[in-house]
Amino acid sequence: MAEHTERGFGMLAAEDRRDGSFIGVIGLTGFGAVLKAAIPSQPSLQIAWQLATRVWGQGLATEGARAVLDHAWTALHETEVVAVTASINMPSRRVMEKIGMHHEPSDDFLSPDFPKGHPLEPHVLYQIRGGPPLPPAP
Ligand SMILES: CC(C)(COP(=O)(O)OP(=O)(O)OC[C@H]1O[C@@H](n2cnc3c(N)ncnc32)[C@H](O)[C@@H]1OP(=O)(O)O)[C@@H](O)C(=O)NCCC(=O)NCCS
Repeated sequence: MAEHTERGFGMLAAEDRRDGSFIGVIGLTGFGAVLKAAIPSQPSLQIAWQLATRVWGQGLATEGARAVLDHAWTALHETEVVAVTASINMPSRRVMEKIGMHHEPSDDFLSPDFPKGHPLEPHVLYQIRGGPPLPPAP
C-alpha cells in the first residue's frame, strides 16, 4: 500500500471474473536494495504474480499480467519492465514468455534471498520494452 501511495503502482488483488473470488496477486513492484544490487543491470521495475494453487493452469496469471503490462505502458508511461524468478520455476518462466518477455542471460543472478547452493538460488531475468507508439515521422 505504501508503494501505491509513494510510486503510483504496486501489487494488485486478482479476482476471478467468473465469481469475484480473490485468487492472488499480480502487479508491478520495485526491488529492495539487496536484491537490486545482485542484478547486473540494476532494474527498477518488475512485474510479479502469485496465484492460489486451485486456479493454476487456466491462463489467469497470463491474462492478469497482460492487463498489468498494458497499464504500465498506457497509464504509467513506463518503457521497460523486467521479471525475475528462480531458474527452475518453469510455470513462471512460461508466463513471462507468453506475455512477450525475453530472457536476458547476461542478467541472470544468484538470489540473496536463498542460501548458497539452494536449488532456488539461481535466478533468471526476463525483460520487455513497451510504451506508447512513436509519433509519425515528419
Ligand atoms: C506462476 C503462476 C502465477 C502461474 O499461474 P497460472 O495461472 O497457472 O499461469 P498460466 O496458466 O497463465 O500459465 C502457466 C504456464 O506454465 C506451464 N507450465 C506449468 N507447469 C509447467 C512445468 N512444470 N514446466 C513447463 N511449463 C509449465 C503451463 O502449461 C502454462 O503454459 P501453456 O499455457 O503454454 O500451457 C503460479 O504457478 C503461481 O502462483 N506459482 C507460485 C508463485 C510463483 O512461483 N510466483 C512467481 C515467483 S517469481
